[in-house]
Amino acid sequence: MAKSPATSATEGGELPPALPDAAAEHARLAHEIRAHDKRYYQDDAPTIDDAGYDALRRRLQALEAQFPELKTPDSPTETVGAAPSDAFAKVRHAVPMLSLANAFSDEDVAEFIARVRRFLDLKPEQELPVAAEPKIDGLSASLRYEKGRFVRGATRGDGAVGEDVTANLRTLGDVPDRLTGDDVPDVIEVRGEVYMSHADFKALNERQTEAGKPVFANPRNAAAGSLRQLDPKVTSERPLRFFAYAWGEASAVPAETQKGMVDNIRRWGFVTNDLMEVLGTAEELIAHYHAIEEQRARLGYDIDGVVYKVDSLALQRRLGFVSRSPRWAIAHKFPAERATTVLEAIDIQVGRTGSLTPVAKLKPVTVGGVVVQNATLHNEDEIARKDVRVGDTVVVQRAGDVIPQVVEVVLDQRPEGAQPYAFPTVCPVCGSHAVREEGEVVRRCTGGLICRAQAVERLRHFVSRGAMDIEGLGEKQIEAFYEAGDVREPADIFTLKVRDAQPGKLTRLKNREGWGETSAANLFAAIEDARTREVNRVLYGLGIRHVGEINAKRLLRHYVTIEALRDAAKAATPPDPGVRGDKGDDAWREMIDIDGVGAVVAYAVVDFFQEPKNAAPLNALLNELTPAPMPAAASNTPVTGLTVVFTGALERMTRDEAKAMAERLGAKVAGSVSKKTDLVVSGPGAGSKLAKAKELGIETLTEDEWLARVGEGG
Ligand code: IVH
Repeated sequence: MAKSPATSATEGGELPPALPDAAAEHARLAHEIRAHDKRYYQDDAPTIDDAGYDALRRRLQALEAQFPELKTPDSPTETVGAAPSDAFAKVRHAVPMLSLANAFSDEDVAEFIARVRRFLDLKPEQELPVAAEPKIDGLSASLRYEKGRFVRGATRGDGAVGEDVTANLRTLGDVPDRLTGDDVPDVIEVRGEVYMSHADFKALNERQTEAGKPVFANPRNAAAGSLRQLDPKVTSERPLRFFAYAWGEASAVPAETQKGMVDNIRRWGFVTNDLMEVLGTAEELIAHYHAIEEQRARLGYDIDGVVYKVDSLALQRRLGFVSRSPRWAIAHKFPAERATTVLEAIDIQVGRTGSLTPVAKLKPVTVGGVVVQNATLHNEDEIARKDVRVGDTVVVQRAGDVIPQVVEVVLDQRPEGAQPYAFPTVCPVCGSHAVREEGEVVRRCTGGLICRAQAVERLRHFVSRGAMDIEGLGEKQIEAFYEAGDVREPADIFTLKVRDAQPGKLTRLKNREGWGETSAANLFAAIEDARTREVNRVLYGLGIRHVGEINAKRLLRHYVTIEALRDAAKAATPPDPGVRGDKGDDAWREMIDIDGVGAVVAYAVVDFFQEPKNAAPLNALLNELTPAPMPAAASNTPVTGLTVVFTGALERMTRDEAKAMAERLGAKVAGSVSKKTDLVVSGPGAGSKLAKAKELGIETLTEDEWLARVGEGG
């Protein structure tokens, strides 16, 4: 595909401050996080410290907040951990094992409390007790008890499916075989953290050394490696402990508060953490955090922060979840570490949309236990603002917005003769001019199709997991096909088999280095399979700026086929900035009116389809495909697929809460009533929207009727 021309802020009027190629950065971060997840959860051998990892996730979240279309169902922000290893039987968690959102500053904590209060619409005089407890740095496990007996134990895995480590968990002294008490629920999954104490860790490593075996990097790795042993006997020789702090499926929850339930779990036979306290305000939480931080070194086990949980279970239920974490809890992490090192060079990476991103090449330095060699420098303006020069000694941080990050230059250590950095004005890959459009911070290569970096990145994106998902066609293979001239644009992938079979056309795949009969056949089969990929994945695969997986779906929910979207985009005329009050033509307005789309996305879509260079490659591609329709939105609830409008004052829930509930149940929430509205839920004081609904003959419900319909009344 040809490069979609960048839309400048002056044209769009409301473009966000351009991030250095948000989509490319998103893909890079997601890839990096997944790789870290695998090393952490499956291999028990992380190569990054927690603060660094958190910063990567935060960066991804920030990007997704700014460009929601980048958020995909398989984004690391939507998933937890990594898929379970094949070495163990798999256990599907009856209640998913989720993760926690993070807070890194006092302001984040205050904002969390404010957000919760807003969501619940609490009056200033209403109290909000919150339980605060250490965040144990181990690995979480879920222990299922039926009629008081321990029947199954599992790791978190990817949150939905974990590994069956029952036999290993049985060897832990802190895991009771039987629960005691007359109020033990028939079914209860007790959840908590498996960890190793500092003393036990030290002794274990000494034993490992004596036995000539590798030592563990930290107690967490030691705990994870020990729990995920194939032979329970090995686990039994490892001193693992368990703190219980939560629960999953439960036939009864005989408590009204988090603290109350944790006290029950303790009574039934578990060890729980003594440092849990129920507090009333953000200030008190922060004070407790510092008190725990002060004791951190003396606790005898690793913690990496403090977890705050809304104490009332009724309020927890109302707050519910947002993607991978509960709205009612947050982890307040301890701060990250910094180090100084020498910046040896500045590399320029070229992304899919031609963005030039500067990367600092550092003299390797250990920050928070991990060796850092690369750090982002964000963009040209950031380099100038910090006046970063090659040869400088710089402060590197493994937390904050981007990780690792060059924070500042140590000026008094600047070598003599160090020159200000001159950002390249030509693409380091193809030599084309690299230009900055008005209002953009990113400099982009203008090479489009002729720029190898862009073409390869685009092809890689096209075959990637969320897009066409062609197995056997990874980064290396795409590059090789590109270099050989066999695949230059997406359609070429689908003609590869025919060309391969024609004598003399190209070197037979099975005869190429790294390929054989079977792998070639597998690749061709995977390519055939991709011809019927869902249409939304094809659109996403085109790599149009701002069209991530979510926006691809939004657009196709409306236009259904790529052809219809293309025709609409070609017909659309955006507003003329020279004409006051111009709103663009009907086709344009139809597009920006799609829920969640708006002008930024519409400009990118229109630019892409109106770009003459894109027409032929796109047609060639569409000729090769028979895309399957987009899968239906959500599962079976009484309101799945309906468009709902809430109006008037709601009395049993806040507007945010109502919206979240409706979306959770697969409904779409709209702001205004139209022919497309299926249901209007109205409270006291509803005015014109209710009148319009009646006029259009749309079904209207009271708040109670709505709750009854969705089965959450009473
Ligand atoms: S509550 C639904 N409490 O942190 C939320 N988690 O980042 C369930 N963790 O997966 C988690 N100490 O492995 C909770 N006191 C604590 C914790 C804790 C450590 C871990 C746990 C979880 C991860 C979330």
